[in-house]
Amino acid sequence: MTTILAIESSCDETAASVCRDKIILSNIISSQKIHEKYGGIVPELASRAHLQSIVPVVNEALDKAGVELKDIDAFAFTQSPGLIGALLVGAEFAKSLALAFDKPLIAVHHMKAHVLANLIQPLGIETRIPSFPFLCLTVSGGHTQIIVCASPLERKIIGQTLDDAAGEAFDKSAKILGLPYPGGPLIDKYAKNGNPEKYHFPEPKIEGLDFSFSGLKTAFLYFIRDGKAANENFVEDNLADICASIQARIVSVLLHKLKKAAEETGITDVCIAGGVSANSGLRTAFEKMGKEEGWNTFIPKFEYCTDNAAMIAITAYYKFLNEEFEELSVVPSARTV
Ligand code: KG4
Ligand code: ZN
Repeated sequence: MTTILAIESSCDETAASVCRDKIILSNIISSQKIHEKYGGIVPELASRAHLQSIVPVVNEALDKAGVELKDIDAFAFTQSPGLIGALLVGAEFAKSLALAFDKPLIAVHHMKAHVLANLIQPLGIETRIPSFPFLCLTVSGGHTQIIVCASPLERKIIGQTLDDAAGEAFDKSAKILGLPYPGGPLIDKYAKNGNPEKYHFPEPKIEGLDFSFSGLKTAFLYFIRDGKAANENFVEDNLADICASIQARIVSVLLHKLKKAAEETGITDVCIAGGVSANSGLRTAFEKMGKEEGWNTFIPKFEYCTDNAAMIAITAYYKFLNEEFEELSVVPSARTV
């Protein structure tokens, strides 16, 4: 049996998790509230908040798992991509522990980990997991990708966004509506009471399996500007319908390409992952498409969709089996390494 402590600090969540083989024993997440008043993440403040939270978060993850540092077989951290100052906090913390306890150090790629959240086995819950090869639509604040996952550590990107990510499309639409950051979950909340067919936004015409959301953002900006010109309370009067309609378009763009990817590859085990996979409109429409297309569909538990360390732990477990360890000189990187 292998016990791993994993740390995630790539953006504005300080998170730690302990796994024993594929079973997650604890998954602690501390979300930084400080950024709300700035309408977006302030990198310097994120680094400082990670420094304040990391010790209590790691201690809580160990306590909840019922293990001590001396029981840990390897220490893992998110290496890339992310905010460099934020990544450094988790990386240096994991390195110090690996050095102090003379145990292997494992570096994990954040986007690969989002995909492998679909392989997590929560403690005491029998969970179906996809068979290889599977397809994954990975949708987060910085990335939108369609992945073929041939084995736990083999990931091929077959489609991706040419500009904004799906999470940005949600967050920027929310900002145009005057909603606070991050707006994705708020659009989801208001959309629940709205009519998704009330307003129509253009579907981007992009070849192949790639995505583009910048044209949709501009169309949305002009739509709101024109609506407000005709009625200064246009947004307040129609918030639920506006949110439902823009959400429906973002979801249909994503699923249209996912369906194309499944047809082209012939793969029928299909997953979603990343922060936007927490979106209730996407989850429902994905399940519906899966039934129509005869797919086996998989969605991580809600707590494993947005940033978390359990996904880093499960990825580290597979790297441990492969003995993919790092020297203490390893450095994190803002961009993919
Ligand atoms: O994966 P994640 O937690 O962090 C990154 O790696 O970027 O994704 C964050 C993104 C944000 O853009 C956030 O607005 C979006 O996921 N998000 C949602 C929902 N929950 C989180 N977007 C739409 N509906 C949601 N329920
Ligand atoms: Zn993420």
